[in-house]
Amino acid sequence: MGKLEQKVAVITGGGSGIGRAISVQFAKEGAKVHILDLNEEGGNAVVEEILALGGQAVFNRCNVTDQQEIIAIAQHIGKIDILVNNAGIAHVGNLENCKSEDFERIFNVNVKGAYNALYAIIPIMKAQGGGAILNLASIAAWVGITDRFAYSMSKGAIYAMSMSVARDYMAYGIRSNSISPARVHTPFVDGFIAKNYPGKEAEMFEKLSASQPIGRMAQPEEIAKLALFLCSDDAGFITGNDYPIDGGFIKLNN
Ligand SMILES: NC(=O)c1ccc[n+]([C@@H]2O[C@H](COP(=O)([O-])OP(=O)(O)OC[C@H]3O[C@@H](n4cnc5c(N)ncnc54)[C@H](O)[C@@H]3O)[C@@H](O)[C@H]2O)c1
Repeated sequence: MGKLEQKVAVITGGGSGIGRAISVQFAKEGAKVHILDLNEEGGNAVVEEILALGGQAVFNRCNVTDQQEIIAIAQHIGKIDILVNNAGIAHVGNLENCKSEDFERIFNVNVKGAYNALYAIIPIMKAQGGGAILNLASIAAWVGITDRFAYSMSKGAIYAMSMSVARDYMAYGIRSNSISPARVHTPFVDGFIAKNYPGKEAEMFEKLSASQPIGRMAQPEEIAKLALFLCSDDAGFITGNDYPIDGGFIKLNN
């Protein structure tokens, strides 16, 4: 028996990186996985991968910034036991380099997108008598990474959103937690290195690897294993907390 048999999981941003690894891991444990992503090619590829493994998965094209779209998808799915708010985007720059439109773009996807999914899915979980929520925060929420003003701000909001939901919906059997990874080697990291440090990709990759005291980035599958534990019934006593998964970044740097 898998740890998520009979469970239905919604994973935003499941078409790439950490979301892909979580989708595959959850499906391997018996969950029916609904991937909500803007990226049709990536989302469909992950569905194919899961089906080839004998699992259950459905791709739903969705922009998490669109509340009506996400409500319609959630109602169509019907039963939802697990929500992983994973869709997210990056921005490099300090406060002075963060234009109003940058702030809004990051806020809309990273913060409002998670709120939209919760807004759509909490009533379903309430009616069912419970559920598990996992939100992707970041070490940026804890330490405010250099030159990541908007991104750090958005992840701090995720941390607080997760706690607020944990408190307000505990009585309905809903658990809510967040996780705070340090660098994870995904297309997200490769993409911003390529965009922001052209010609210096290898150097930046080494620098970002070394910023974890453990000396490397995480693999998405390592994040997926923590996500699986926190979303499974094994974590029934865990709510209202954030779990760094950071190769020592927060406490062992310096
Ligand atoms: N990679 C890291 O180092 C790292 C570290 C800490 C936290 N995180 C967080 O983990 C999450 C996943 O990161 P990743 O590295 O796997 O990223 P990724 O870019 O590989 O994947 C993100 C996915 O989200 C989707 N997405 C983006 N905007 C969307 C929208 N508006 N609506 C629907 N889907 C949308 C993308 O299409 C993509 O499939 C993000 O929230 C990120 O902030 C990543």
